[in-house]
Amino acid sequence: MNSAQLASALGDSLRDTRLIVVANREPYIHVRRTRPAKGVWNWLRGRRESVEVEWTRPASGLVTALDPVMRACGGTWIAHGSGNADRETADARGRLKVPPDKPAYTLRRIWLTPEEEQGYYYGLANSALWPLCHIAYARPVFDESDWQQYVRVNRRFADAVIEEVAGQRAVVFVQDYHFALLPRLVKEARPDVTVCQFWHIPWPNREAFRVCPWGEEILHGLLGNDLIGFHVQYHCNNFLDTVDRALESRVDYEHFAAWRGGRPTFVKPFPISIDPTLWTGPAKAGDRTAEVKNVRQALGLNGQRLIFGVDRLDYTKGIPDRLKAFGRLLERHPEWRGRVTMVQVGAPSREHLTRYQALMAEVESCVEAVNDKFKTDHWLPVIYRAEHHHPDALGQLYRAADVCVVSSLHDGMNLVAKEFIAARGDELGVLVLSEFTGAARELDMAVHVNPFAVDAFADALHAALLMPPADQRKRMRALRERVATHTVFDWAGALLQAACRMEAVR
Ligand code: G6P
Repeated sequence: MNSAQLASALGDSLRDTRLIVVANREPYIHVRRTRPAKGVWNWLRGRRESVEVEWTRPASGLVTALDPVMRACGGTWIAHGSGNADRETADARGRLKVPPDKPAYTLRRIWLTPEEEQGYYYGLANSALWPLCHIAYARPVFDESDWQQYVRVNRRFADAVIEEVAGQRAVVFVQDYHFALLPRLVKEARPDVTVCQFWHIPWPNREAFRVCPWGEEILHGLLGNDLIGFHVQYHCNNFLDTVDRALESRVDYEHFAAWRGGRPTFVKPFPISIDPTLWTGPAKAGDRTAEVKNVRQALGLNGQRLIFGVDRLDYTKGIPDRLKAFGRLLERHPEWRGRVTMVQVGAPSREHLTRYQALMAEVESCVEAVNDKFKTDHWLPVIYRAEHHHPDALGQLYRAADVCVVSSLHDGMNLVAKEFIAARGDELGVLVLSEFTGAARELDMAVHVNPFAVDAFADALHAALLMPPADQRKRMRALRERVATHTVFDWAGALLQAACRMEAVR
């Protein structure tokens, strides 16, 4: 399914029903930038700088998927207004029409105080729920005042939803672990409204979840949904199992639903994906060859093979493990010294948190350890760039790579794996993929690795570098077929159509 097909499929179902998306991140951000002032007149008046307000769209899979739906159906997207020029571009209630250059739907921005953002986003969401659900051996931090802010912010977003629904029929589509309490709050106020949620991160087993001091409140909140989606069946099983153990409820394993207070919440897998058309790159073979040549030249490669990785700088992504495996490859297979380079891009993320600062320092020291041990006058084993890259630049790196490595210790899905596949119209290149990603369940023709097993990981890199082109092609064809037929539009379509069917029988 492509974006137009999705929009038309949902346009019919949503004709008399308002679609409301709730997400922490907004689809359009306004920022104020200071630039050198242009023109002689400014210069004569001594004005050296001018301030301009610009809008940008975050490079987010969720925005890519839902923005076309919202454009077609004209609903409301409710999000935290985090840009430094967001207030001046919205009305008194935080509303504006977007896209700013072609208004089609409403963005409603919620203003958070620094204390609310700290407690709800950095605290409860990213220091408690994120590590709790990922089980990547980072201890969750449970802080009562963070919890209070999380409750408060969920209440504030729920009030905005209720206000936006007004007297209409509506489907409310809630995103992620930032809003575990909101579905119940909306449902209590408006039992006639259909509420569904997608949980973009894993759901842990019930033993792991037990340590959460507010487990019951979180589950009670989530069971306010009519439908809750996870990436894979395994997370659905974990969720129902957790509910079964922790709450007074009836779990129906036959229909995959939990009943509480006389109404069901259905639980289903919806594997998220990408828009593959965004990653195709140059159409002509000659342009592709030139692109690869330019990338290799810009990296200073001199005939070396290229192993590539790109991630948010997050401790769940297994970046130190990948660097250690690369070092082990150079130890165990000295024939690769001087003949292979690893390029690692890390996009800074949640830098305010000490756990993320520690990860950044750890990655740097792992890079240094490999480089200090193996570098020569003519070869740097690891090139590391800790900065955001534009998707076009990433596409070029994907196409220039011999091997792309995704080594998450635990990941709900992982979209880098799918982007690499979509970028490889030449049907070459090898994906080395952690078996602990949701993506590994769909992408069985990738080379699967356990990132905790450093020697086996190093051997998998060795095998990937040696894989004959015919084998690469066979695997890449199968992987591309999967990504082409399971796009992010199929994901949004399946979930929202299920929600619309529930809405229709209400
Ligand atoms: C994960 C989460 C998303 C989140 C993204 C980026 O994929 O599931 O909800 O938006 O990380 O993190 P950030 O905290 O910057 O929004």
